[in-house]
Amino acid sequence: MVSREENETMTRVGPGTPAGTLLRRYWHPICPAQELSADKPKKRIRLLGENLVLFRDGGGRLGLLPEQCPHRSASLYYGFVEEDGIRCPYHGWKFAADGECLEQPFEPNNPALKKRACQRAYPVQQLGGLFWAYLGPDPVPLLPRWSPLVSLEGTRRITILPVLECNWLQIMENSVDTTHTYYLHGHMMTMLGMGEKAAYYYRPIQNYEFEVVKEDVWTGVRKVRIYGGDQGERELGHPVIFPCILMSPQRQYLMMHFRVPVDDTHTYIVRYEFLPGEKSDAGNAENPPVEYVKPFKNEDGEFHLQTFGSQDGMAWETQGAITDRSRELLGNSDRGIALYRRMLKEQIAAVQEGKEPAGLIRDPAKNQEIKVQVSSGQAKMAREMADNYGDT
Ligand code: FES
Ligand SMILES: [Fe+2]
Repeated sequence: MVSREENETMTRVGPGTPAGTLLRRYWHPICPAQELSADKPKKRIRLLGENLVLFRDGGGRLGLLPEQCPHRSASLYYGFVEEDGIRCPYHGWKFAADGECLEQPFEPNNPALKKRACQRAYPVQQLGGLFWAYLGPDPVPLLPRWSPLVSLEGTRRITILPVLECNWLQIMENSVDTTHTYYLHGHMMTMLGMGEKAAYYYRPIQNYEFEVVKEDVWTGVRKVRIYGGDQGERELGHPVIFPCILMSPQRQYLMMHFRVPVDDTHTYIVRYEFLPGEKSDAGNAENPPVEYVKPFKNEDGEFHLQTFGSQDGMAWETQGAITDRSRELLGNSDRGIALYRRMLKEQIAAVQEGKEPAGLIRDPAKNQEIKVQVSSGQAKMAREMADNYGDT
């Protein structure tokens, strides 16, 4: 049983919170790279409860700064992007991508004031067609080079989901919830007359297993379903990469689901879809196509439930903005959730004790291309069913 206090500890993401401090130690994707253009080289970003502005200056440097100007708090998002920085729209103070205050028009020469106006800029990198941000302390760990982001042995595309109106932990708990797929997807699709889209999940689940994985460059929980019936299968497993990534097969694709805590009650999700096979060129790797999924709710404000995304979104949001875990009744099938929570609490404690949390990468030799094995049964079924699976 989770106490209210523990629930707060595990879920809140703002600066100084226990989980927020832990989550700041990892890189998070913040948007597709194509969202910054020559016409509009700036974007508002809300991440881990902080309001930020992302911009690319005329010299091509990326900056990620607090949105509010240190002078009198107007939004830098409405500022002017110049060759060497962004200029506040209110009184024109200018900041470089690294946060240095470059100019304070109308101020007499005042080096102390200029120094005090320097901001902390967060590191940003581009990889696999996405911008990534790191909000933690130095030394900055390496941005993980997951195989789907960098491999040329296949093609990729990016799908952005509507922002979910719930806490990030509900979504990660769903990733270690092996049995939800039977009713929420398999049965739901069948009842809606679209059973062929969820045939993979509508097989009898005979058993399920969970395993804590501790690899060199990632740690997490692997879940395995053992299906019975005519098309029995023992899955290789779908790993949750701690803290915020699910890797899973989806039709013939290898999918990475990046769950990004926007704040305590909103979560941004990037679905990264890699299709192994046909070789891709650097263009596909650097600038993959991006699709934006339509809202999960219909005009009446109800979840339409026509896609896996809407079905999952319904389950996650209806648990409550931050679900009250002191009320829940866990059973045997929730073992994965208990494992994930234990890992989360251990890692929060590690950081509080001044240790490095699990799964950070510091050795470039181990970060050329990180491959993670997942089940292939679904790709096989999708091929057999002539790609009958709908968009999730
Ligand atoms: S508020 Fe930004 S320059 Fe005054
Ligand atoms: Fe699901």
